[in-house]
Amino acid sequence: MNRIIKSFFTLCLISILCAGMLTGCTRTPRADTDTLRIGVAVYQQSDTFISTLMQALEHLAQERESSEEIKINLNVVDGHGSQLTQSEQIDRLIALDYDVLCVNIVDRTSAAMLIDKAKEANIPIIFFNREPVQEDIQRWDSVYYVGAKAEESGILQGQILLNAWLNENERVDRNQDGVLQYVMLEGEPGHQDAMLRTEYAVKTLVEAGVSVEKLDSNTANWDRSQAASRMAQWMDRIGDSIEVVISNNDDMALGAIDVFQNMNIPKEKMPVVVGVDATALALEAVCDGTMQGTVRNDAKGIAKCMLDLAISLNRGQEAPELEKYQDGQYIWLPYQKVTKEQLPCEEARAPAQP
Ligand code: GAL
Ligand code: CA
Repeated sequence: MNRIIKSFFTLCLISILCAGMLTGCTRTPRADTDTLRIGVAVYQQSDTFISTLMQALEHLAQERESSEEIKINLNVVDGHGSQLTQSEQIDRLIALDYDVLCVNIVDRTSAAMLIDKAKEANIPIIFFNREPVQEDIQRWDSVYYVGAKAEESGILQGQILLNAWLNENERVDRNQDGVLQYVMLEGEPGHQDAMLRTEYAVKTLVEAGVSVEKLDSNTANWDRSQAASRMAQWMDRIGDSIEVVISNNDDMALGAIDVFQNMNIPKEKMPVVVGVDATALALEAVCDGTMQGTVRNDAKGIAKCMLDLAISLNRGQEAPELEKYQDGQYIWLPYQKVTKEQLPCEEARAPAQP
C-alpha cells in the first residue's frame, strides 16, 4: 500500500515538474533554418479559389527551393468544412512540431482556441483568406493574417456595375424605369467576404446616385451548383424583372450563367452578371461577354506573402518584401477590377501565326 502511495506521489511530482517545464519554456530558435516545415490547414480543398491558392503556394515553394538553399516541406490538410476535423488536424500538426502553421479557418469564431494552442507550443500561426476578429489576432504577437480587404472587392464590383449602368444603360436598365433591379448571390453566412462584398457593392451604386431595388438575395455558399438552383427558382418566379446578378464570387456567378444558357437565353438578353476572384473560367466568361466583369482576388500574391512570412519567421529575420503590404500583424493584398478591356481576349482567340 505504502509503495503504491509513494509511487503515486512520485508520478504527481513528475507531472508537476513536466508541466512547469512546458509552460515556462520558450521556443529555441531553429537550429536548422535551412529546412522549413509548414503545416497548412484549409477549410475546403475543393473550393475553386482555395485550390488555386494552394497550387500557387506549392509552385512558389518549389521555386524557392531551387533558387535558394532551403528545403520546404508543405503538409496540406483539408478540413472538409468541419471545424472539429480541422481542430484535430491542427492538434496533430502542433504535436508534430511544425515550424509554422498556415490556417484557413473553417469557423472564424474558433480562432482563439487555436491561437492559444499554437502559443503554448510557440509555433507562429498565419491565418489566411478567412479572417479572425481583431481581438483574436491580438492574443499573441506571432499571429498574422494574410488576405485582402473585403470591402475593397465590393467597391470594385459596384464600380463595374456603375460603369455599365452609365455607359450601356439601355442594356442594363431593361425596363427603362431608371431603377437597377438586382438579385444577390451570397457566399457563406458569417464570412467577412460575403457580408462586406454584399454591403459595399450596393453602397457604391447608391452613393453614386443609382436607384437600386433588391428583388431577392440568398446564400449559395460560394458554390456553382447551389447558385444555379437559386437562380433557377428566381427565373421561374421573377425572371423577367432581373436586370443584374451580383454574386459574391465567380463560381456562383457561373452557376447563374449556367441557368441562362440552359434556358437558351441569348447573350444580349441575359441579366448583367458580376463576380469576384478572376478564376480561369470566369475570365473566359468575361471574354465571351456572358459575364460583365470580376474582381481579381490575388491568389498568387497571397501565397507569396504567406511563404515570405513563413520563411522570415523561421529565420527570425524581417522580410523586406512584405513591407509594402504589412500593417502590424496584417498583410493586405490589393484587389483589382477585371473587365473585357483589361483582358487579352482577342489575342487569346486569334489563330496562331504560321
Ligand atoms: C473568398 C473567395 C471565395 C471563396 C472564399 C473561401 O475570398 O472569393 O470564392 O474561396 O474566399 O473562404
Ligand atoms: Ca430597371
